[in-house]
Amino acid sequence: MARAGQVGGTATADRPTLPAPTSRGGHSTQTATVPQEARQGGAAPRKVAVVTGAGSGIGRAVAHALIAAHWTVVLAGRRAEALAETSRLAGPVDAGGPAILTVPTDVTRPDQVDALFAAARERFGRVDLLFNNAGTFGRPAPLEELAYEDWRAVVDVNLTGSFLCAQAAFRAMKAQDPQGGRIINNGSVSAHAPRPHSIAYTATKHAMTGLTKSLSLDGRPYGIACGQIDIGNAATEMTGRMQTGILQANGELAVEPVMDAADVARTVVHMAALPLAANVQFATVMATNMPYIGRG
Ligand SMILES: NC(=O)c1ccc[n+]([C@@H]2O[C@H](COP(=O)([O-])OP(=O)(O)OC[C@H]3O[C@@H](n4cnc5c(N)ncnc54)[C@H](OP(=O)(O)O)[C@@H]3O)[C@@H](O)[C@H]2O)c1
Repeated sequence: MARAGQVGGTATADRPTLPAPTSRGGHSTQTATVPQEARQGGAAPRKVAVVTGAGSGIGRAVAHALIAAHWTVVLAGRRAEALAETSRLAGPVDAGGPAILTVPTDVTRPDQVDALFAAARERFGRVDLLFNNAGTFGRPAPLEELAYEDWRAVVDVNLTGSFLCAQAAFRAMKAQDPQGGRIINNGSVSAHAPRPHSIAYTATKHAMTGLTKSLSLDGRPYGIACGQIDIGNAATEMTGRMQTGILQANGELAVEPVMDAADVARTVVHMAALPLAANVQFATVMATNMPYIGRG
């Protein structure tokens, strides 16, 4: 697995105090009093990536792939223990290797997002990459039965959270010297075609395409590139139902093929490694035989 830099001790949380926690799926979020874990690398300047949703699934796989490619990585997500596990799973530390910083963050909270990017800049001086990945599928429900709160919860994470992180990254990339950086938004094949009973997820993933296009245009004067990866059926917690049977457009339940999240991560690292003069604007990485192409 990846090699990270020597452990540099636990950083004190000198960023603004995070607001009171909320909870999701039985997991408590962390407060500002939870120390950030930092594994500090050597003297050589390394490119700095912020990965949201880094405590599981695709975010964890991308974080590990970036670390293996010698990026310094800031891990963000609500569950501090999941972020620490991502850091631990990155493997044994080598002197001079890349650094890892974990910053518990709820991306729906503007103050916490600001604190995340402040921590990244304070510790590493700049932000070269945002992998804008945190997301939720929400509760599948027939459209006419979807509660306002369920709609809102998905919009808050997938759209507003992505906007807040992109805006904070954009501000940092515009202000830093050398100027510029890259934002990679995690869309979905749901940015192109819906699953049944997924209006909030589908609408927010279509909206992600709008974020990507606006960021790409508005980033031109500042050397800020933005691309989007649209994933189909990577094996993660979010896609567990695809391996047991998920509702199809014809009303049947079907088990669907899945792929390894590490195969997604390789594509993200490729997109991230390009010079800022080049950009993968949109990439689709999907399980080869999943129902999508061919209308089924
Ligand atoms: N797996 C696929 O096939 C697939 C396909 C298309 C798109 N995607 C996209 O890939 C991304 C990652 O999904 P995944 O499959 O890896 O599922 P996952 O394991 O459930 O990951 C979702 C991540 O988002 C984080 N998150 C959720 N709400 C958050 C919040 N308010 N603040 C900060 N972080 C939050 C979660 O961490 P905490 O709970 O710790 O906050 C979790 O680490 C999502 O945007 C998803 O839409 C996945």
